[in-house]
Amino acid sequence: MTSDDFRAAAHTAADLAADHLAGLAAGPVWQPMDDAARRTLLDAPLPAAGRPLDELLAAVRRDVLPHPMGNGHPRFFGWVNSAPAPAGVLATLAAAAMNPSSAGGDHADVHLERAVVRWIAELVGFPHPAGGGLLTSGTSMATIVCLAAARNRAARAAGWDVREDGLAGMPPLVGYVTGETHSCVRKAAELLGLGSKHLRAVATGADGRLDPAELRAAIARDRAAGLLPFLVVASAGTVGTGAVDAFDPIADLCAEERLWLHVDGAYGAFGVLAPEIAHRYAGLARADSLALDPHKWLGVPVDCGCALVRDPAELRAAFSLVPSYLRDEAAGELGWFSEYGTEQTRPFRALKVWATIAHRGRDGLAADIARTTALARRLGELVTADPDLELLAEVQTSIVAFRLRPAGEADEAALDALNRELPAAVQRRGRAFLTGARLDGREILRACLLNPATTEEDLAVLLAEVKAAGREHSG
Ligand SMILES: Cc1ncc(COP(=O)(O)O)c(C=O)c1O
Repeated sequence: MTSDDFRAAAHTAADLAADHLAGLAAGPVWQPMDDAARRTLLDAPLPAAGRPLDELLAAVRRDVLPHPMGNGHPRFFGWVNSAPAPAGVLATLAAAAMNPSSAGGDHADVHLERAVVRWIAELVGFPHPAGGGLLTSGTSMATIVCLAAARNRAARAAGWDVREDGLAGMPPLVGYVTGETHSCVRKAAELLGLGSKHLRAVATGADGRLDPAELRAAIARDRAAGLLPFLVVASAGTVGTGAVDAFDPIADLCAEERLWLHVDGAYGAFGVLAPEIAHRYAGLARADSLALDPHKWLGVPVDCGCALVRDPAELRAAFSLVPSYLRDEAAGELGWFSEYGTEQTRPFRALKVWATIAHRGRDGLAADIARTTALARRLGELVTADPDLELLAEVQTSIVAFRLRPAGEADEAALDALNRELPAAVQRRGRAFLTGARLDGREILRACLLNPATTEEDLAVLLAEVKAAGREHSG
């Protein structure tokens, strides 16, 4: 392949991406793939001979791009998946063209990662000592990284070296979460050998926020039983309702009890940029660690999470292992990123973060985020005003938890059956996309607003679609 062949194909690829993005809003949000289209991908034979780039691009146009997940569309309100930031899309090509391993060394990607991790900390107002964080695949991985540091610190204080001795024989370390804490925390606890039964679900108030008095009582019970409380996981935006915990009283308690405070800000931490809700995040900066996802509200193309820590030495103590073939006498004080987490070969995620933030600037991002929080509050008002809908939680950030409750329907089992079916029914209709969950024992619908291109008309379409799908169910 000549460089002219590559250039021509790259221009075609740019057209493909631009056509795809430009055409998204006019099409269905999502539609099931027909069997033939699915089989084309599933049954693709291993090619013995190579094919020219233009043929591959034609196959992408024909077989791949017409079948998106839906998250680029302004009426996609499912899970926590954003439309890609255009600047981030462009950056992925240059990052792949360089294709470094951002493990460490003296090349642009490594220095850019240090800068964007600092930018992320500055955006959310988290302290950032040099070396106090790294980019990860997502918050699931960032949580493993942060909780490993928390576990090792607590074990060390109890006279245990987990890296050498493992956990066997140690009194159980206990962590505190709520019923709404994301499943990635339990995964991390299981993987780190803590055992999910040593995660206590502390009660929340009616606002979905962790109750500090209940937390204090749970810690006292565990200490009295000879266990070692070590961790509290608070949320800067739960995935079910977008609830943000009251960080100050939790941080006070953690300081008093010498517990590590970790905050899951995967979805919601960037909400602090919206002036109307910034007050909800008071005390966030007091956490020992914060996991958050630029690939959610900022729209950085997947994948990109971030782990931020107050004390970088704790990460390095948990992960640093430098075999002789990776010695780098010129690495300087901070060493390599690979000493602060699990990954050795690391992708160049920083360029798409840099491009996304640099394109919008802090003010542009704040305006986008404020817009989606305002739209979410508007959706909450529309739900409240509709006699056939019921708002199930205060709209604290940009997630709206509600259900269809056709006037007069009081049978909880019937309401559960109806609302459990609705997300898939709405999705199949293709005009809007939302997902469901269980909250306080009830089936709910949840709409997550992340896309600044969404309009009030889109909100009206979403609610009309929920009701139309409900009529299909009853009819
Ligand atoms: C609140 C919350 N925490 C953690 C996660 C896990 O993040 P990731 O999927 O980036 O690993 C998510 C994902 O949606 C989330 O919403």
